[in-house]
Amino acid sequence: RITPIILAGGKGERFWPVSRRESPKQFLSLDGSGVSLLQATAQRLLGIAGGWDNLWVVTAAHLEAGVQRQLPLLPAGNLLVEPEGRDTAAAVTWATLEVAARSGEETIVGFFPADHWIDRPEQFEQTLGAAAQLAAERGAIATLGIQPTYAATGYGYIEQGEALGTFGGLPAYGVKRFTEKPDAATAAEFLASGRFSWNGGIFVFQAGTALGELRRHVPDLVSALERQGVAAYGTLPKISIDYALMEKTDRACVLPVRFGWDDLGDWNAVERLLKTEDNPNVDLGDHVALESQGCIVYNCNPDEVIMTIGLEDVVVVRDGNATLIVPKHRSQDIKQGLKLLQADP
Ligand code: GDD
Ligand code: MG
Repeated sequence: RITPIILAGGKGERFWPVSRRESPKQFLSLDGSGVSLLQATAQRLLGIAGGWDNLWVVTAAHLEAGVQRQLPLLPAGNLLVEPEGRDTAAAVTWATLEVAARSGEETIVGFFPADHWIDRPEQFEQTLGAAAQLAAERGAIATLGIQPTYAATGYGYIEQGEALGTFGGLPAYGVKRFTEKPDAATAAEFLASGRFSWNGGIFVFQAGTALGELRRHVPDLVSALERQGVAAYGTLPKISIDYALMEKTDRACVLPVRFGWDDLGDWNAVERLLKTEDNPNVDLGDHVALESQGCIVYNCNPDEVIMTIGLEDVVVVRDGNATLIVPKHRSQDIKQGLKLLQADP
């Protein structure tokens, strides 16, 4: 049994203007299905959790009401609210301490991003069963390794180590090295070597294992949270769990995954999800195109139409009072663009 904890405090800025401060990416249904990424994540984890009582969410204060609205069945005591975002090392450490306080250090916890697309739920569940077994039997920090398809710089890379045998019917390996978000040249090297997978962003471990490793590698973070609880937040270092723990620990193991996985990181991910043979563009909402192709046109305003003519490989997004127009290959740069906006987007 895994106690799943959803990390839902991110900003999702690269989906501006559909993603805003109070309604970030995880609250949106990017594929137009009506089910938000957060809701889909919770649904996917309910079976593994064995019901709502054993599912947790960590989020930021300004998103608390939104999470309650989106997940009305989540017990109030299972929603951990951070006064401010301090990145994932703080969120993981605090949540692990809280779960351990309630159900003991032997509890197997799993951390899950709120913004992933995953297909084949049976294989997802099988992989998590294997991860739980690795965590329980070897004191491992289990990661999921995704077969890389290009030299991405936005992911962690896991170098596969020695074979550890089969767990829950799946082969598991040690981890030689974990490198978070390498530069482009290093990413290309890793990809070419064939020895690396992408870090799937999901971590499974026994609470006590992680707390021991965190005490070793980020002692100040753990002791501040142990002493003051959530009141310590303002003083906590802003660092992700990947840099703080995964690059340092020697307890990491990796399970190569076989289900479809996508980090819905920017508008190009929406294209990967929704591209069809018969439409030269990806349209959500009203878009009239004359000889445009390879575009992603996302029109959230029901009473408006967008027309494009002869446009290629451009993202056009219209939502309420804001419009974004960006070449597809620069959609990572929306974060920088947002810094130019004076008002809170
Ligand atoms: N509660 C809380 N508080 N959640 C947070 C915070 C925070 O301060 N910061 C981020 N999150 C949530 C995000 O909403 C997301 O669901 C998850 O934590 C991961 O954070 P991201 O900011 O999206 O991380 P990333 O995508 O850059 O990198 C991570 O995921 C990749 C795979 O998608 C790393 O683990 C990489 O190694 C990995 O490859
Ligand atoms: Mg992410």
